[in-house]
Amino acid sequence: MEDGCPRIRRRVSVCKRNRGSPESLGVSRTLAELQPAEDTEDETAAGSRRRKTGSPEPAQENDSEEDMFGDYNSFTEDSFLAQVDDLEQKYMQLPEHETDSGTRDLCSEGIKTNLGINTVSDFTDSETNERIKRQSVLDDPGEPEPGRDLSFDVPSSQILYFENMQNSSKALGDQSTKERDGNSHKSSNDNLTYSHIEQPQQNNHFSNVGVSSEMSRRKSIRDHLKSAMAGNARAQTPVFPRSKQLRETLLSEEISVAKKAIESPSDDLGPFYSLPSKVRDLYVQLKGIKKLYDWQHTCLTLRSVQERKNLIYSLPTSGGKTLVAEILMLQELLCRQKDVLMILPYVAIVQEKISSLSSFGIELGFFVEEYAGSKGRFPPIKRREKKSLYIATIEKGHSLVNALIESGRISTLGLVVVDELHMIGEGSRGAILEMTLAKVLYTSKTTQIIGMSATLNNVEDLQAFLKAEYYTSQFRPVELKEFLKVNDTIYAVDGQAAGGMTFSRLLNYKYSDALKKMDPDHLVALVTEVIPNYSCLVFCPSKKNCENVAEMLCKFLSKDYLNHREKEKCEVIKNLRNVGHGKVCPVLKRTIPFGVAYHHSGLTCDERKLLEEAYATGVLCLFTCTSTLAAGVNLPARRVILRAPYVANSFLKRNQYKQMIGRAGRAGIDTAGESILLLQEKDKQQVLELINGPLESCYSHLVEELTKGIQSLFLSLIGLKIATSLGDIYQFMNGTFFGVQQKILLKEKSLWEVTVDALEHLTEKGLLQKDSHGDSEGLQCHFRVTKLGQASYKGAIDLAYCDTLYRDLKKGLEGLVLESLLHLVYLITPYDLAAQSEPDWMVYFRQFSQLSPAEQNVAALLGVSEGFIGKKASGQAVRKKVDKNVVNRLYLSFVLYSLLKETNIWSVSEKFNMPRGYIQSLLTGAASFSSCVLHFCEELEEFWVYKALLVELTKKLTYCVKAELIPLMEVTGVLEGRAKQLYSAGYRSVMHLASANPEVLLKTIDHLSRRQAKQIVSSAKMLLHEKAEALQEEAEELLRLPADLPGLGSSNSERAGSHAGDTTLC
Ligand SMILES: Nc1ncnc2c1ncn2[C@@H]1O[C@H](COP(=O)(O)OP(=O)(O)OP(=O)(O)O)[C@@H](O)[C@H]1O
Ligand SMILES: [Mg+2]
Repeated sequence: MEDGCPRIRRRVSVCKRNRGSPESLGVSRTLAELQPAEDTEDETAAGSRRRKTGSPEPAQENDSEEDMFGDYNSFTEDSFLAQVDDLEQKYMQLPEHETDSGTRDLCSEGIKTNLGINTVSDFTDSETNERIKRQSVLDDPGEPEPGRDLSFDVPSSQILYFENMQNSSKALGDQSTKERDGNSHKSSNDNLTYSHIEQPQQNNHFSNVGVSSEMSRRKSIRDHLKSAMAGNARAQTPVFPRSKQLRETLLSEEISVAKKAIESPSDDLGPFYSLPSKVRDLYVQLKGIKKLYDWQHTCLTLRSVQERKNLIYSLPTSGGKTLVAEILMLQELLCRQKDVLMILPYVAIVQEKISSLSSFGIELGFFVEEYAGSKGRFPPIKRREKKSLYIATIEKGHSLVNALIESGRISTLGLVVVDELHMIGEGSRGAILEMTLAKVLYTSKTTQIIGMSATLNNVEDLQAFLKAEYYTSQFRPVELKEFLKVNDTIYAVDGQAAGGMTFSRLLNYKYSDALKKMDPDHLVALVTEVIPNYSCLVFCPSKKNCENVAEMLCKFLSKDYLNHREKEKCEVIKNLRNVGHGKVCPVLKRTIPFGVAYHHSGLTCDERKLLEEAYATGVLCLFTCTSTLAAGVNLPARRVILRAPYVANSFLKRNQYKQMIGRAGRAGIDTAGESILLLQEKDKQQVLELINGPLESCYSHLVEELTKGIQSLFLSLIGLKIATSLGDIYQFMNGTFFGVQQKILLKEKSLWEVTVDALEHLTEKGLLQKDSHGDSEGLQCHFRVTKLGQASYKGAIDLAYCDTLYRDLKKGLEGLVLESLLHLVYLITPYDLAAQSEPDWMVYFRQFSQLSPAEQNVAALLGVSEGFIGKKASGQAVRKKVDKNVVNRLYLSFVLYSLLKETNIWSVSEKFNMPRGYIQSLLTGAASFSSCVLHFCEELEEFWVYKALLVELTKKLTYCVKAELIPLMEVTGVLEGRAKQLYSAGYRSVMHLASANPEVLLKTIDHLSRRQAKQIVSSAKMLLHEKAEALQEEAEELLRLPADLPGLGSSNSERAGSHAGDTTLC
């Protein structure tokens, strides 16, 4: 990072700048009469991948990374707990010789001081003092309400922490002589660590550990804590310590300077790319980034970037692309005061980003909002002052853009950033991404679009589509060495050499005959060169192969590997047992002691998260995984091995190869990285062509994906009134990625024909109608959506199924069985999953016979009889015609229904003989589809009865855990396993987590790194801020004088309109 210039210089340089006004906002359409749309993730197949939860950076180097946070504390300083935390921090850092008296001060008097005196001594403002005094009289914080215990307000672990501090202080006091010999600091910390880990899990035991003499002191601390919490809760205006006020004033001053700076034509971008210097500090503190790479600087200072032209940039994996995008996003949020949308490919990555950017949001004053899975509001909440950074998956990003267009707010979106832009060429998800960008381009001329990728070939097509500039560089901070292995010879990939590779070395590992037979690919030799000190990823072609390879490796690894971090590995197994409701996968049970695990979509989200955490901290050193890991989560390795040049049955693509090997040698984590692709002699030529050839080009899927592509696009264009005439729709199509590539993609039809065909099809299907008012033909022919069309696009229903859904719901109205959830669950079981499933008839029959009469009635209503299932189970021929789709769908609804009743994926997985990962994707898919059906019903009056029912059902499916864990799981990145841990440690709500001290979390929650603890707290704080702001906004909205109030004169209504913000009812 550049050195900071003195602030004065910056201000002077700003004075010199006098560029014209910022770009004017583009026209946005007001479509207030339409309801917002919500999309869902049509990614069930990829669902499991996406659900992979992000994990922190690895392992061996993690310590240093955690230290990057230094003593940074993003805790809100005006909260009471923050003050107590400061005390704790001070306590923890006290030098030994001070501990005795220091502890006494901090633990007893210190806390009192902070409760009572801090508010007086720290705040110099006399008015504030007066208010506090008045308030303290009113609230009487010294007198807790009888019968109320502090433990209702503060998580037990927090109370225990202070109690432990007292105990420790006593212990420390007792050993004051020992402390002088220099070992005392360690022992005091050990004491603390021990007590924090053990006691919260054993609350009963706690009272027996010899603290009865402390009871009265404890009570007094509780009283103080309680009264202070109560005081905090009742305080009307937060009072800030002077230092905080100063910092905030400084920041807002800097932001106002930055706002002007960004509008000025000068090349002087101030201390940090037109951003407040605090941003630079945060990057140092939070991410350890001290200086930008040269390419990052060049890219950020490109004239086209400063002029806010659309931009595509492409660099190798680990090149540091994210930082450039983040700086541009911050400029937009802070300096231009516009909202920003960041589109990321998978839910797990969205969650990772939310966690890492929440601290920036809290420190710099913007919202970070999650749009992934079933999270996200449509339209987004209008924020009063602060701007929002929406972080979304591809599907949610599309829904968000639709909702903004519909509510006439698209021009509030200053910037759209798309990571992994090459995904625009991938099936229906690519088509959705294309629609989103095309809609933004068409409806808002002021919204900038930035796309990045490591694997782009036909950039010109993308540039033409996005009207974007292009920047590229081959920079990679850590060198990645690519190798190929044929038999026992290793070759270095070398584009310059004849044949594309050069001899590197022979594998030097003694193989017994048995080993040679079991491990013909020499995997044992290759992995033992790196593990356990460095991490290694072995990519395998299939899920089963991952498990087999993990087991095979462990069979031949030396027993010495068992000793490496043995205790922590036992902990991992213990934690897996906890999240598995008492069960652990037998393969993992055998491999984890060696530091090895498999990682694929067959695992549950909780299992994956635990394994990823263990891998990231170096407890596990080897993952055997499928290619999905390369795109899903950020799990780096020293060595990446590709077991074969195949992904499932298809030959590897260059893009896939690049993504997989790109996990090796990540900046800031590894100093070196290497990849080894194992291949047979017969594949050598093809592999060399692949490695030395160009990247694959990406092509539009808009037209290929008929019902999820062009047809759904047209329906929403007309529904949202973006384009309603044939001429306008054709013009829109010209501006799509397909429009750019049409001549390559579809030679036999013109773009005009494609457009007319799709519109005709939608009209025939009853989703569109030609507008009867406009009698013009040709270009002027206007369309409008029918009720069914409207419901379909609002519900984001795949048009292939919208008729069936309508019929099923209609039939449901005739006799909806509400005695159990089964009937409703059937109605929201995703059609596409049902079409792909094949029931196990024996299981089906067994489950069927266990149904209650009311549940059997549901099956009868659907036309599925026990006799039919029985015949199928016994292999008899069935003459009666039964709809296979209904039968399969009912089977999947049995699975979901069991899951809702038991909330235990493992037992349902056993009962239905299905992989637990599959069951989890089914659940995710059903939750998404349930919210789609809900929106579908909202548009059709006849289905009013479903609305209330589906709201509840969607919630049940979204979390599918015990009700008490739901509030904790609202916090990004907190899954069921973590929620259980937090809950049993006393954290019951988002407020608890937002007020928690990361250091306390670290000590009381198993397997939680400091970074994760901080991220949980930041995410919870962000969520809380967001909720509070939304309520405030709602309150203001309610009290605002309506501009169209009858009886108001024109001048009045003008006044109401122009001063809407301050014209309130009271
Ligand atoms: N200027 C910098 N100094 C030090 N580390 C940096 C810098 N810029 C980025 N990094 C670090 O480099 C690592 C890789 O960066 P990033 O994730 O942005 O790569 P990428 O280009 O997006 O790669 P991929 O294509 O694999 O997603 C991150 O850990 C990031 O914090
Ligand atoms: Mg990236």
